[in-house]
Amino acid sequence: MKANAWFAACLLGATFLLSTPLQAKTPITIEGSHFIRAGKPHQIISGSMDFQRIPRAYWQDHLQKARAMGLNAITTYVYWNLVEPKPGQFDFSGDNDVAAFVRMAQAQGLDVILRPGPYVCAEWEAGGFPAWLFADPHLHVRTQDPTYLKAVDRYFQRLGRELSPLMAAHGGPIVAVQVENEYGSYGDDRVYMEDIHQALVRAGLGTDILFTSDGADELRNDTLPGVLAVVNFNTGEAKSAFKTLEAFRPDQPRMAGEYWAGWFDHWGEPHAHTDATVQAKELAWMLSQGYSLNVFVFEGGTTFGFMNGANFQGNPSDHYAPQTTSYDYDAPLDEAGRPKPKFATFRAVIAKATGITPPPLPAPTPFMDVPAVTLSESASLWDNLPEPITVDQPQSMEQFGQAYGYILYRTQVSGAIQGQLYLGDVRDYASIYVDHKLVGTVDRRLKQVSLPVTIDAGEHTLDVLVENTGRINYGPHLADGRAGLVDPVMLDGKALHGWQVYPLPMTSADAIRGWTTQAVEGPAFHRGHFTLAALADTFLDVTAFGKGFVWVNSHNLGRIWDIGPQRSLYLPAPWLQQGDNTVVVFDLKTPKQAVVRGVRQSIWSMPDVKTSE
Ligand code: GLA
Repeated sequence: MKANAWFAACLLGATFLLSTPLQAKTPITIEGSHFIRAGKPHQIISGSMDFQRIPRAYWQDHLQKARAMGLNAITTYVYWNLVEPKPGQFDFSGDNDVAAFVRMAQAQGLDVILRPGPYVCAEWEAGGFPAWLFADPHLHVRTQDPTYLKAVDRYFQRLGRELSPLMAAHGGPIVAVQVENEYGSYGDDRVYMEDIHQALVRAGLGTDILFTSDGADELRNDTLPGVLAVVNFNTGEAKSAFKTLEAFRPDQPRMAGEYWAGWFDHWGEPHAHTDATVQAKELAWMLSQGYSLNVFVFEGGTTFGFMNGANFQGNPSDHYAPQTTSYDYDAPLDEAGRPKPKFATFRAVIAKATGITPPPLPAPTPFMDVPAVTLSESASLWDNLPEPITVDQPQSMEQFGQAYGYILYRTQVSGAIQGQLYLGDVRDYASIYVDHKLVGTVDRRLKQVSLPVTIDAGEHTLDVLVENTGRINYGPHLADGRAGLVDPVMLDGKALHGWQVYPLPMTSADAIRGWTTQAVEGPAFHRGHFTLAALADTFLDVTAFGKGFVWVNSHNLGRIWDIGPQRSLYLPAPWLQQGDNTVVVFDLKTPKQAVVRGVRQSIWSMPDVKTSE
């Protein structure tokens, strides 16, 4: 078929698709270089939106917005660590209910492209790997290691029970499933890739299109025979990426698995701002060529709790770089799901290319200000330690069955000593106290491994409080996901023996004791209450605090860090209640005035910088 005729047929297919909101889904198949649906060429116009980054109460509204931008498919990852928090213990309830999300997408007339990992990258803790995998020093992720593959199999089998009935082959909306995720950037073991492929098939997730996705230069490393290969690329790279894909796989459909029309943020770096004008042109070009695509991301949402990952390639010019809680991504919808100017721009481009006016946007979600709330009660961390575990040398969190949060290592030292306290490879941010007085910090981002200390004569308590600020989700160091302390601690050249370890996973604010209205110095919890008559979304202004995290009504909103750029935390209405609400901030530093307030726009402490022109 000539390109024009092909494109015209595509438009007809798209017209049918978009004008029929609750259509019965039919599988998409591949014939030569075309996707085919119901006998006609079909163009996939997708956007990424990971359901586990969005409160469930908003899934439907945000899926409606996807349709309103002109998308005909939604691509989502599944984060393994959230659905299998303990080995063999699965949780597909609430915000993890992937089957409910997929059914909602179907109700909106959207196809679903599923990316179950097991590795997902995604700026997510350890790329989605559950922390318990790293407790076994003999287990090697993303390899043929049988222990790892057995764990993958158990996860896929359970996921298959949720989702195989929703495959398009069985009348559901899942038209395609991705095998692994950009494995070509990590290795070139095709036997491993085939293992993952077969595990998906065994789980009942291989009935429709299966595909691998990679950067253009990495396609050669991991693609599989008979499995569609799609290409991932940045703003400005569409032409060259498709050229490479076409040369690599001339006889299959052309698809962008991830078109990065935005970017994510790291702590300590400016908030990303990308070029929507270039993106609009590129989007129009891809659509005019009849290519299929996935806008990465349509909506980023929020990396609530402690679920952010970190980048680290490990070369000398690089450093460990954890990502912020906000996953705004400069996407068409903001973190809270509100359309940004980019939404209208992309909508117009898609409407022009397809000749179809998408359905209108749903009514805007209400937003509110919340007047200043003073957190007048405080409780010291030192009064909230669990029973310790005695060890000779510090060990990582996972050795104590802990996955996320903080961990305190305590020992006794005799002075007088003036020398270096060497902590080695800290995972990831250590605050060091002598007799509960802060003497310094060791920050993995800054490649710090030690600090000078002066200890007076006599016996003293040395505390090393380590925060896991997010396991690496990209790069070779992903393989060693241990958190906490992993090296022997040396004081003035001598290893320190005999430690008490206090795991502090910070899973709930309920059991915190020792609340006082007196000022509390050092690492502490700060609590306040506010009353609401009506509920709406807001951003919590946390500029009064230094480094920690926030619970509102027992939901962990994410991290605070005064190095910026993020200085507010998204607080969705479904997590608030009419009447009394409780906010608890944990802060390593001592706030001058412990106060939060709700504002309508997120607060960024650094000017935006264009990351792609
Ligand atoms: C890759 C990964 C995604 C994401 C992007 C960057 O393409 O596949 O999960 O990490 O990089 O945002």
